Amino acid sequence: MSFVSIKELLQKAQQGRYAVGAFNCNNMEIVQAIVAAAEAEKAPVIIQASQGAIKYAGLNYIVALTKVAAASVKVPVALHLDHGTSFEQCVQCMANGFSSVMIDGSKLPLAENIALTKKVLEVARPLGISVEGELGKIGGTEDDISVSEKEAFFTDPDEAERFCRETGVDALAVAIGTAHGQYKGVPKLDFDRLREIVKKVSTPIVLHGSSGVPDDAIREAIQLGVAKVNIDTNIREAFTAAARQVLAANSKEIDPRKVLGPAREAAIEIIREKIRVFGSSGKA
Ligand code: G3H
Ligand code: 13P
Ligand code: ZN
Repeated sequence: MSFVSIKELLQKAQQGRYAVGAFNCNNMEIVQAIVAAAEAEKAPVIIQASQGAIKYAGLNYIVALTKVAAASVKVPVALHLDHGTSFEQCVQCMANGFSSVMIDGSKLPLAENIALTKKVLEVARPLGISVEGELGKIGGTEDDISVSEKEAFFTDPDEAERFCRETGVDALAVAIGTAHGQYKGVPKLDFDRLREIVKKVSTPIVLHGSSGVPDDAIREAIQLGVAKVNIDTNIREAFTAAARQVLAANSKEIDPRKVLGPAREAAIEIIREKIRVFGSSGKA
């Protein structure tokens, strides 16, 4: 099966009050784990590639690996650019077979973010490719900023309304208290803000930095309107923990397959767990 656009996946998810998991890939084993988990759970799935993944694996490898993966399963699979940094990169991914791109203009002033997102949409629309935009700044857990400083970066509901109305974007990433990477404490989501945003926009909402967010908080966010949940760090943790365990048990192991095979199994398990939390199990 070829890649599906996230627009249709997220509209169905929004109506059904579940979320589609968007899992970051970096190598063959993680790509395989994502589709194996989705197939086992009969769930639609989004494979996404970050800047780091593209730099590490190469765009052509990401596209080739994910195409083979999608063709090997019956469930719908989307290939999505995560945090696209420029118009040119989005176009490059579209030309190379991605079914969806994110243009991350969140660092720009609102009007410039709108203009850039619209420019990407003008190319994407005729091709049937979907576009995710971002409003508000989703930081990294390594960002050394206080809670009140963080709140200043949270998505403003009125701006979200204007952003969605003027761009017509297919999915909106919001900043409501999550951050990329490993959390130091337990993240607290601003559900009131999410409620306000959802009142003002009908666009499916995307939750970034979802690794380490308690399952109940994820479920609540989904009930309020989150339709795409991004997970990277939890896969990295599971993958490397399993590889470490093999090497700790046998420091003389030299066969990469004996290290990466169990790592792939661990990735499948964590992705299946996430899919069940998101409620997308059986929704393919
Ligand atoms: O958006 C954040 C992802 O975890 C990507 O991180 O650029 O290191 O692959 P990365
Ligand atoms: P985590 O690594 O915190 O799960 O975030 C993933 C993400 O938001 C990718 O865009
Ligand atoms: Zn992100």
